[in-house]
Amino acid sequence: MNGILSLKKVLGLLLTSCTTYIIIKKLLPYYVRNKSLKKSKNDEKILKVLFFPDPKPTCALKFASRNGCTRARCNLSHEPSFASAQLLSCLFRTKHQLDVCIYVFTAIELGDLVINLHRSGVNVRVITDDEQVDASSSQIDRLRQAGIQARHDASSYLMHHKFAIVDKKLLINGSFNWTLTATTGNNENLMITNDSEFVDKFSEEFEKLWNLFDPKLFNATT
Ligand SMILES: *[C@@H]1O[C@H](CO)[C@@H](O)[C@H](O)[C@H]1NC(C)=O
Ligand SMILES: *[C@@H]1O[C@H](CO)[C@@H](O)[C@H](O)[C@H]1NC(C)=O
Ligand SMILES: *[C@@H]1O[C@H](CO)[C@@H](O)[C@H](O)[C@H]1NC(C)=O
Ligand SMILES: *[C@@H]1O[C@H](CO)[C@@H](O)[C@H](O)[C@H]1NC(C)=O
Ligand SMILES: [Zn+2]
Repeated sequence: MNGILSLKKVLGLLLTSCTTYIIIKKLLPYYVRNKSLKKSKNDEKILKVLFFPDPKPTCALKFASRNGCTRARCNLSHEPSFASAQLLSCLFRTKHQLDVCIYVFTAIELGDLVINLHRSGVNVRVITDDEQVDASSSQIDRLRQAGIQARHDASSYLMHHKFAIVDKKLLINGSFNWTLTATTGNNENLMITNDSEFVDKFSEEFEKLWNLFDPKLFNATT
């Protein structure tokens, strides 16, 4: 009786340890792997880094117009890997809201793009530095004439940010001024991400500055 019982016990013990072994060794890693796979899928993010300068100026028609470039002989770049090409097409995909917070805005093709977005119904808001508003080839007056709201700081300190938020979902930030020299001359970087942790923080900052630079508060003109 005792012998049989202990044999049962031993067998039982063997069985449980076998099951435990299988669970720990074989099934657990499978479960963990699947779980982390699922997790990484949910956490999937767009993350792109762009570096300027580009070797030559990019054709804005090609990347930021509905009909593309229809010039018979276009001497501007159609290369999609250029930083400008990626920036233009990223901005061009804006559906509802474009928030731009930029120290210097003199690039005509970016001015065109922003005005076209505004005309197609996108709500565009621009914040810039007061000392840059009247700088030569500044796009700010042009944007305002087109009906775009543009606000600026009112201090001798710089509104030195350089970021844009597309549809409150995509953040573009970096050293990049919206100037032509920045696309084909300067060494500049841009980061594009849809990581909501960063997008939300920059959106909050934009709202904060937008309210702070309300012209009603300091009698300036928008
Ligand atoms: C970011 O983009 C990726 C790839 O398109 C997508 O799977 C993910 O859901 C997006 N995340 C957010 C927060 O929009
Ligand atoms: C491209 O063509 C325009 C005229 O269509 C000309 O003014 C410009 O200098 C040309 N640029 C280059 C880089 O060849
Ligand atoms: C862009 O934003 C990210 C996230 O906040 C930050 O880590 C990075 O330093 C910024 N880059 C520049 C050049 O401002
Ligand atoms: C931005 O561009 C302006 C005009 O090209 C230049 O004077 C300035 O140094 C640039 N500043 C920064 C910090 O990007
Ligand atoms: Zn072209």
